[in-house]
Amino acid sequence: MSAQNDSGFLRMFLFVLGALVAFTILIMFAAGTVSEKLEEKQGSDSRKQAAIAERIKPVGEVAVAKAGAAPAAPRSGKEVVGAVCGACHATGALNAPKIGSADQWQPRFDANGGLDGLVKSAIAGKGSMPPRGGGNVSDEELRNAIAYMLKEAGIDAGAGGAKAAAAPDNPVQAVTQAAGQSAAPAAEDASALAQSKGCLGCHQVAAKVLGPAYKDVAAKYRGDAGAVERLVAKVKSGGTGVWGQIPMPPNNVSDEEATRLVKWILSLQ
Ligand code: HEC
Ligand code: HEC
Repeated sequence: MSAQNDSGFLRMFLFVLGALVAFTILIMFAAGTVSEKLEEKQGSDSRKQAAIAERIKPVGEVAVAKAGAAPAAPRSGKEVVGAVCGACHATGALNAPKIGSADQWQPRFDANGGLDGLVKSAIAGKGSMPPRGGGNVSDEELRNAIAYMLKEAGIDAGAGGAKAAAAPDNPVQAVTQAAGQSAAPAAEDASALAQSKGCLGCHQVAAKVLGPAYKDVAAKYRGDAGAVERLVAKVKSGGTGVWGQIPMPPNNVSDEEATRLVKWILSLQ
């Protein structure tokens, strides 16, 4: 009886033990699956988080950059030219006016009526030059850069131009400037003189009105050495037949004024 009991107990014990082992394995397996799933879920969560971070990151960066740039002093002309403009203007690539070349800058300076005009032109872009030279350049930096390039070309765009325009009551200075190297104030003076002498009632720089566009006059006589003398005489005494049948009446200008006006007209491009 006791032997039978013993073997019965043993069988029972082994069964229970087996069941427990099986249960344990089952539990371990289940736990493994659950944690795997959990990992997967967390993994995708962190990927989502990364994606969100990615999406907000640029916004944050831009805001930071802007906040940083606003109080920062604008770059000097030299810096901007070195960073952006030099790519074309240092070498004359794409026919950009070359830094240091008065020949290439002066006509543009005159045609745009000075630094302000050049800044406008550069903001808008011109020909193969993209707006602002294709760079992230503020108006002020653009102005600095152009002033720098003009200075390198020996063109005084800054205080000189403004001073000359503000002080036309000093004729000696005005004449010296008109005759001298500084063509910028001369151009401003001359166009003011053309205005005050009534030339601009019949002429515009770029468009035909009653008289021919001054740019067309300049183009017609380019390379003609005797043109200044002949045109001075014509401005003074009037004439007809060159541009059509409408006559230009005699103008009330001195030799010196007529010479300045004609030289200015012929310098336009
Ligand atoms: C990709 C080449 C390139 C870059 C970069 C460039 N430019 Fe120019 N730029 C040109 C070319 C080409 C012209 C002549 C355009 C024409 O007259 O058709 C020019 C002309 C100009 C003019 C004269 C415009 C006029 O109306 O005559 C100014 C001023 C100027 N650039 C300023 C700048 C400044 C300032 C920078 C830098 C912020 C700059 N450029 C960068 C190519 C460039
Ligand atoms: C009443 C209108 C009128 C006024 C004012 C006037 N012009 Fe003219 N101008 C003309 C006409 C018209 C012509 C074309 C004459 C011709 O065909 O020969 C002309 C021609 C010219 C030419 C080119 C002459 C040539 O032979 O090619 C010049 C330079 C010129 N004007 C300068 C001036 C200047 C400088 C002033 C001011 C001092 C002035 N004009 C005032 C109407 C005018």
